[in-house]
Amino acid sequence: MDYINKIFNEDILTGIDNLPDGSIDLIIADPPYCLGKDYGNNSDKMSPKEYLKWSYKWIDAVLPKLKETGSFYIFLTWRYSPEIFSYIKTKMRMLNEIIWDRKVPSMGGSTRSFTSVHDTIGFFAKSKNYYFDLDSIRIPYDAQTKKARTRSIFIGKKWLEFGYNPKDLWSFTRIHKQDPERQEHPTQKPLEIIDRMVLASSPEGGIVLDPFMGSGTTAVSCLNNGRKYAGFELNPKYCQLIEKRIDNLKYNERQQSFNLQI
Ligand SMILES: C[S@@+](CC[C@H](N)C(=O)[O-])C[C@H]1O[C@@H](n2cnc3c(N)ncnc32)[C@H](O)[C@@H]1O
Repeated sequence: MDYINKIFNEDILTGIDNLPDGSIDLIIADPPYCLGKDYGNNSDKMSPKEYLKWSYKWIDAVLPKLKETGSFYIFLTWRYSPEIFSYIKTKMRMLNEIIWDRKVPSMGGSTRSFTSVHDTIGFFAKSKNYYFDLDSIRIPYDAQTKKARTRSIFIGKKWLEFGYNPKDLWSFTRIHKQDPERQEHPTQKPLEIIDRMVLASSPEGGIVLDPFMGSGTTAVSCLNNGRKYAGFELNPKYCQLIEKRIDNLKYNERQQSFNLQI
């Protein structure tokens, strides 16, 4: 099966066997969170027990596809991350628990507990030889902050000249209805987040597997960053949406190179 730069309108559990073992550089998985969301199917409507059982099943199905140097990011909520992280830790090295702070504005919220405003992301590696390119994701200082840090002991430090190393708290605003990036999908992730994973954890030309493509954010990030993708998505409407998103991206690229030529 040719799987490079393809998105299969298929259940990950039935389609994954068509990918060769040891062929994937990076897996970015953003599964349903067991919150009852409507994805045009029942995938987010399992009981907690069923959800954990299903999670372990798809994780077992995708992990053999990774190369020895491969990594795995998984988006979850605080509610199920303890069980699922513990499970993955029996198979992989856990490198980070990343907190995505969705920058939710303060406006009321929960009244009998603290308002939850983050997603939990697990970052795992298959071996100690995992690929990681820190320089591609350094965060440059603005001129003012850079100036404030210019004590003599800091001069020439890579973090000062080229940017600091990202921390495990990632603050990126969720995609609002008015955002030009916004697609007709209830839980679309911001490109900024996926770009950071793709750049840090896959080499140029590498292959990224997304078992739950949704609106196709991983595919768009791969095309923008010179990587290849393979993906699965149950809902045929989302598959059409992804195709359209990719077509638009390619059209805009052609327009840009045409404009540069004239
Ligand atoms: C949280 S969303 C992914 C959002 C995506 N990261 C984005 O940025 O648009 C999860 C997606 O997984 C799909 N899905 C659920 N169960 C699936 C399965 N067994 N196989 C393939 N796709 C599935 C849902 O239809 C939904 O679109």
